[in-house]
Amino acid sequence: MTTPVDNSYPQEQRDAIYRVIAERRDVRRGFRPDPVPADVLGRVLAAAHQAPSVGFSQPWDFIVITERERRERIAALARRHAGDFAADLPGARARAFDQLKIESILDTPVNIVVSCDRTRGGRHTLGRHAQPQTAEFSSVLAVANLWLAARAEGLGVGWVSFFDERELAAELGLPAHLEVIAYLCVGYVTGFAAEPELATSGWARRRPVSWAVHAEEFGHRGMPGEAPVDPLADLIAAITPPDAEAMAAAAERQDRMTKPRGSLGVLEEVSVRLAGLAGSCPPPLPEPACVAVFAADHGVHAQGVSPWPQEVTAQMVANFLAGGAVVNAFAAQAGAEVTVVDVGVAADLEPVPGLLPRKIARGTADFTEGPAMTRDQATAALAVGAEIARDLVAAGNRCLVTGDMGIANTTASAALVCAFTGADPAEATGRGTGIDAATYARKIDVVCRGLARHFPDLPDPADPVGVLAAFGGFEHAALAGFILGGAALRVPVILDGVIAGAAALAAVALAPDAIAACFAGHRSAEPGHSVTLSYLGLRPLVDLGLRLGEGTGAVLALPLVQSAARALRDVATFDSAGVADKT
Ligand SMILES: Cc1cc2nc3c(=O)[nH]c(=O)nc-3n(C[C@H](O)[C@H](O)[C@H](O)COP(=O)(O)O)c2cc1C
Repeated sequence: MTTPVDNSYPQEQRDAIYRVIAERRDVRRGFRPDPVPADVLGRVLAAAHQAPSVGFSQPWDFIVITERERRERIAALARRHAGDFAADLPGARARAFDQLKIESILDTPVNIVVSCDRTRGGRHTLGRHAQPQTAEFSSVLAVANLWLAARAEGLGVGWVSFFDERELAAELGLPAHLEVIAYLCVGYVTGFAAEPELATSGWARRRPVSWAVHAEEFGHRGMPGEAPVDPLADLIAAITPPDAEAMAAAAERQDRMTKPRGSLGVLEEVSVRLAGLAGSCPPPLPEPACVAVFAADHGVHAQGVSPWPQEVTAQMVANFLAGGAVVNAFAAQAGAEVTVVDVGVAADLEPVPGLLPRKIARGTADFTEGPAMTRDQATAALAVGAEIARDLVAAGNRCLVTGDMGIANTTASAALVCAFTGADPAEATGRGTGIDAATYARKIDVVCRGLARHFPDLPDPADPVGVLAAFGGFEHAALAGFILGGAALRVPVILDGVIAGAAALAAVALAPDAIAACFAGHRSAEPGHSVTLSYLGLRPLVDLGLRLGEGTGAVLALPLVQSAARALRDVATFDSAGVADKT
């Protein structure tokens, strides 16, 4: 047997490669004005030119810009786009964006544009005919080479993408068949940050590599050589009790704040719970906030439990995305973002920004005839919810708000509430969007039949996934995962009405400590919701007789939760303000 040839670099050189990869940063601050010598710039550009390209088409060109006037015109284009972007952001996000520096066009001595010619190499370019985008991919690889080589030379690079591509192309005199891939600001810097500024400023977090690696098929996550990640088990294991020390510190601080003891009522308890969840006193402000509206359809609709046709679910999804629903109005007022998740709408939805396509199936089955979903579907929907919670937190959100849409979902909720709490169907079933006496009687009967069918003896709340699969909508299972995700990341989750409540029952049955992350936004008019709140021991913050769903009640409570945290952070204490305490 021949000994395999070792083609690897010596350890020291390997270390250097991994070092430059780890220490490459997008740089926007601390540029020095000194020019970049031509030979250094030449080396960096030659490295870019070594990039791999589809069919060896080398579709890139590099435009090197140093003229001040040109850079001023380009900077004005970028400023205009940044302004348009900021105008679209919800309140807290807009404030955070204001603090970020997004370009250094005038602070750097050299700007480099990397372009792409999709036609270079002719029509028979190897590998490009099936995927025309491979031309752009190739130019991006040239950017990556340039970025790494620049780091090794001690040069900072900042990528600016706040442009109308055609406007910029015109400024650069690009022929019509060339497109701009990257606008890079390059110069010597005072230093390189260890982490991306977007991470240190709290805008976004790095996803762990094990989330990104899948064995054989998408969804089988885990690093090579390590045990596969079982998302649900990992999630449950990551949920631990609130921090007693932080809670004690918060309670003690509330007593020292310049106000009579206990005068903030329920908000004092909210602030103590936020501190316990975060493990710090005062807790971080729960902002920015994002409402995730999970939408799905229900097979039990066929039993005539709702006066609304099933198509309304998809129509309302379109309304959320167009910004026309009540939840959009309330979220705009509260400065929260709205994202819509299709976990099981019985229609094909157009891909539009703001819609996360995560359909498990086109609606559940009728639970009076069999399980609403399979265990695998329930587990998949739980994973979807948890992953969305993780992604929203990774994107910088510090408060999650539940929303839902699904015609007939109060019927599924009633069945879940009965199964988890042992409540009587007549006590837990409500009139949903508003139904007549005959429909109401039928709805109670449907819940009774469902319970009798799946749990002829007693429901088994010890098998929460089984209960979810028996009755749940995909939105219930996904919301349960969303709550677990928030709890695992120690981010508060403001619950809306009975649908979120039913999901919280499942979440807490899976991981009892998840309750620490749950804040009841409001008390819905649905009777099953009151049953749920008492069972979970949660006190609703708003009680206005709302019975709309969508996340509306939870969004109304958002400023209350934020104010509770803000008070604990900002209000002076008797000693610090020199105010005399009651004797
Ligand atoms: C395609 C692309 C476009 C980008 N556009 C901008 C931009 O317009 N403004 C900005 O400040 N950063 C921009 N960045 C930089 C990213 O924010 C940065 O790469 C990310 O935060 C990770 O940080 P790091 O590059 O230091 O690891 C862009 C990055 C890429 C890859």
